[in-house]
Amino acid sequence: MNDPKKIRLALTTLGVVFAALVISFSLDLWGRVEPVRQLPLVDEEFLQPQTWRRSYADLVKKEDEDELLAFSCYECHEEGKKLELTYDKDNHVVVPDEHENIVMGHGSHGRNNDCFNCHNSENLLVLQTRDGHSLKFEESTQLCGSCHGPTHRDWEHGSHGRTSGYWDRSKGEYHKQDCVNCHNPHSPKFPQRAPAPRPNHLRVNPVATAHFGESNTH
Ligand code: HEC
Ligand code: HEC
Ligand code: HEC
Ligand code: HEC
Repeated sequence: MNDPKKIRLALTTLGVVFAALVISFSLDLWGRVEPVRQLPLVDEEFLQPQTWRRSYADLVKKEDEDELLAFSCYECHEEGKKLELTYDKDNHVVVPDEHENIVMGHGSHGRNNDCFNCHNSENLLVLQTRDGHSLKFEESTQLCGSCHGPTHRDWEHGSHGRTSGYWDRSKGEYHKQDCVNCHNPHSPKFPQRAPAPRPNHLRVNPVATAHFGESNTH
């Protein structure tokens, strides 16, 4: 291997090979590895853990005086005076302008729209079940349960509604959301919500997404 000719030949060959590599890399002859793309962050709306509605109990906890005004029935109503409901010609209860925030639509046929199916006609500050039990506003879940027995049972078992906190009760508290955290008592149909977006693909590479059978234009 001491033959200078052979060494020169080897070095020249290496030089040529490296020069060819430099040219081919700079011309991207084999293509480029696609850069990881900047992922758009998911809308904050989908990261909020709280329910869409705040119950009376939540308002009391937050001391939200403005929202609580609506619950001070006797700021406007006269105590001891019997309230008569007004009905239109189709026998639907008429909600007065002062309660315009209330849209009655309990059940798709409006079968449970009468205020005194749930509120106590003699004491507006309490709720009342059909069998005559008085309940505080913060006990409204029991009111719902008095008519929606099977759903209330599912709720108690945890298959309807939402339970958060600890599985292991010895480690800490758990908390169930009240019906009115998710259902407006006056129009309880759960409002439609936009679904959260699917997970992002890491690369824009069609090979990675072909699997999902979609185009790759976004
Ligand atoms: C800002 C004032 C105000 C507050 C607060 C208020 N009301 Fe009223 N409410 C009115 C007025 C005004 C009317 C219509 C006149 C009337 O019937 O006395 C009315 C009417 C009603 C009616 C009769 C509806 C119908 O068909 O005629 C009911 C039931 C009622 N209110 C319940 C309540 C209850 C329960 C509360 C508390 C949780 C409450 N209101 C708080 C002002 C108020
Ligand atoms: C299905 C039962 C039910 C019926 C029917 C009902 N309510 Fe209520 N209402 C409730 C419950 C439960 C709450 C407390 C909800 C909470 O914790 O957010 C409430 C809250 C209220 C409040 C205070 C908060 C607010 O939304 O302004 C007013 C005023 C009120 N109801 C008036 C009425 C009137 C007037 C009618 C009839 C037109 C009526 N309700 C019919 C169950 C009912
Ligand atoms: C006095 C009995 C009664 C009480 C109290 C009551 N409901 Fe209802 N609820 C009904 C009836 C009746 C329907 C209509 C069923 C139908 O049309 O098939 C209904 C329907 C519903 C629906 C279906 C709505 C839809 O449009 O699909 C929901 C959700 C609901 N109630 C939730 C509640 C909640 C939450 C409470 C407590 C704040 C409550 N209900 C209290 C009698 C009641
Ligand atoms: C964490 C939210 C949440 C809580 C808490 C909750 N619900 Fe619901 N409820 C829903 C959703 C979501 C639906 C389905 C709406 C749909 O399919 O359009 C629903 C549907 C319903 C229906 C319609 C019929 C059915 O079973 O599909 C009734 C009645 C009902 N809930 C009653 C109740 C009662 C009573 C309580 C309290 C004991 C309660 N819900 C607590 C979210 C909740």
